[in-house]
Amino acid sequence: MKRLNSQLQQDGAPLELILLIRTLLAACKEISFRVSQGALAGVLGSTLSENVQGETQKKLDVISNQILKDTLRESGYVKAISSEEEEDVVPCSPDGNYLVSFDPLDGSSNTEINSLIGTIFSITHAPQWMEADDPSAFLQPGTQSVAAGYVLYGPSTMLAMTTGKGTHIYTLDKTHGGFLLTKPNIELPTQTSEFSINASNQRHWEDPMQRYVADLILGADGPREKDFNMRWVAAMVGDIHRVLCRGGIFMYPFDNRNPEKPGKLRLLYEANPMAFLVEQAGGLADTGEGRIMEVMPTEIHQRVPTIIGSKEEVETCLSYYK
Ligand code: F6P
Repeated sequence: MKRLNSQLQQDGAPLELILLIRTLLAACKEISFRVSQGALAGVLGSTLSENVQGETQKKLDVISNQILKDTLRESGYVKAISSEEEEDVVPCSPDGNYLVSFDPLDGSSNTEINSLIGTIFSITHAPQWMEADDPSAFLQPGTQSVAAGYVLYGPSTMLAMTTGKGTHIYTLDKTHGGFLLTKPNIELPTQTSEFSINASNQRHWEDPMQRYVADLILGADGPREKDFNMRWVAAMVGDIHRVLCRGGIFMYPFDNRNPEKPGKLRLLYEANPMAFLVEQAGGLADTGEGRIMEVMPTEIHQRVPTIIGSKEEVETCLSYYK
């Protein structure tokens, strides 16, 4: 089976980017090991602190963030990082050529039930003019990303990644520690009969999403004239992995509970990297008002409504917004 390095070279990734990706994945392998130790290592459960988003941090959130932060800071390739678990950007090497945004452990409440979790990341060039602690350099639309992906810590540890030349899925071979290409050039089916949304928030959605989901639920008895199935992993990384594997539509839509949180998912290290992966696999990723990857960020922890998945189903969903 092809190794990660060969695929990255074939896709034309520059050497320094390949080295950075390998460094980042070394940190993810360590996280994978820590996660798998679970209760035996006392890493499950919550800390007493909250992150900048006001969410209680799990011990594994803190551990994963520290592993990534230490590894990337020492690498020399990275000028600064932004993380879900860090209020401000973290300066790294003044001469680093890249910026990395990440969610160190997406879906971390799933650690309590030994279910899917993962690390999501996005890489852009560091502008020459920037100081290492300048957050404004991170305020670039997703179209500027040079690589994005996630590592899923499930029954096997898997990597989905794109450098803009298709989306590929790799599986970690723990016997030698390498990621091997197991699903090259993902192509999402354009149609689907599977949707993914936290239906308990229904009363907070805008009218178009209310009508769209109501029609999905009406199934064969409604205007869609076919039955749909619903899945919700409660970790975006798990839900998007399913979409990449067999198609589907994943939504965390606009929510009218709090005007400061127009959606739940964060643009820089959740919505954008997943949008890049899904678009490279032939799918679409939209906020309901435009392409996610074209949203100009105004702050590093910005949230956006998210509608991602199989092309024709996303188009159908968006038709309710017109
Ligand atoms: O960090 C965000 C996240 O955990 C996503 O991974 C997931 O899709 C979502 O929140 C789950 O939200 P809820 O708590 O509404 O199920």
